[in-house]
Amino acid sequence: MLDPQWYEGREQALVKHTFLDTYMPAQIPKIVSWANEFTYIDLFAGPWQSKSGDYADTSFGIALGRMTEAKAMQARLGRTVKMVAHLVEKDAKNFAELTEAVKRFSDVEVHCYQGVAELHAATIASLIPTRAFRFVVIDPKGVPDVRKFKCLIEPGNTEVLLNFMFQFANRFAGSQDRMPTLEGWLGGLSEEEGSWRRDFAELKGQEREAAITDRARQALRNMGGYVYAPALTVDETATERPLYKLIYLSRHPVGLRVFRDAHVKALEAQATYKSAKKAESRRQKSGMDDLFASPTAINPGERSALEITGGAVAAQAMMMQMLADKHGGIDWKDIWPRVLDACVITHNELGDCVRDLRSNARVNVPAWTSAAVKRPKDEFTVSLP
Ligand SMILES: C[S@@+](CC[C@H](N)C(=O)[O-])C[C@H]1O[C@@H](n2cnc3c(N)ncnc32)[C@H](O)[C@@H]1O
Repeated sequence: MLDPQWYEGREQALVKHTFLDTYMPAQIPKIVSWANEFTYIDLFAGPWQSKSGDYADTSFGIALGRMTEAKAMQARLGRTVKMVAHLVEKDAKNFAELTEAVKRFSDVEVHCYQGVAELHAATIASLIPTRAFRFVVIDPKGVPDVRKFKCLIEPGNTEVLLNFMFQFANRFAGSQDRMPTLEGWLGGLSEEEGSWRRDFAELKGQEREAAITDRARQALRNMGGYVYAPALTVDETATERPLYKLIYLSRHPVGLRVFRDAHVKALEAQATYKSAKKAESRRQKSGMDDLFASPTAINPGERSALEITGGAVAAQAMMMQMLADKHGGIDWKDIWPRVLDACVITHNELGDCVRDLRSNARVNVPAWTSAAVKRPKDEFTVSLP
């Protein structure tokens, strides 16, 4: 359980770590139910501004802790799984702390590398057996040339979480500066050099945010033939502006499903801390306590809260359009991955939406005969009346 007090002054990390701490315990058991080896790769490991005392507020601490738990759970089920981690850190002081910190996780085989991730990536890639499943976390402070990590992004049995510094990319797209580490992979989609900047110049606000992010998602997707590349928006602490995007890569709908669960949880954490900060600032300005204000209440007008509510509306509209376009109906297993790919909604919420539409006779699901079944099954066909 993450304690918000660890994150005062660096609340963006709370959002990022809420994602990781939700995603990993949900995804690892699914993976190790068929793979005997799970490998975690953290190319910019830190520790970075950790305050918890036990590294529970660092990406590697969360990952190694969750891997330890999953290994113990599999052992109770009679299965032996191997947990391996490769961690890279450039800074000598951080590296010394890292090598000490990982001794707490004796059930995970940990390899630490000092130096720049760009130079260690190929060695790490060569050490991982093909049978192992890999989760690669790329969380730099700046904008590295992501192509240097292609050797880790490209292989099968891989999922990736990459911190795309949207704010840098946005600023850069509006200037005439050169930034080879970014241009190299973000501009690589365009035939005519520099034309991608002109594409963005016309755009403003959310349209521009979406266009730049989509370009990064597409470039990353192409790097390994990924099917899904959704993104979680992490905002600046004091404003309603995006700071970075956590772009996730997966080839499997189950990965997408776990991503959206963790995505919505992270957005809720973001909306909660931002609502509390605004309530506190109102209190200070007015000099009066709001007796009814709850520290965990979400203001529905927060950008992240709106993303969640807007996602549900968009998801229902998209699903109804898909059904309108396909006379005879569509199997649930062919509906939810497309909708989750395009909209911010969890698998459960979308299932609940179908149940409500069915109760109101707005959709038919003939195979759904048992009241004990709460959400549609993959094989159910959904159609318009
Ligand atoms: C944003 S922090 C990582 C935070 C960590 N992922 C977390 O969530 O707890 C980035 C770290 O990468 C290190 N770093 C910077 N450039 C690097 C490089 N080229 N290769 C490896 N590490 C690097 C920094 O020293 C810093 O500790």
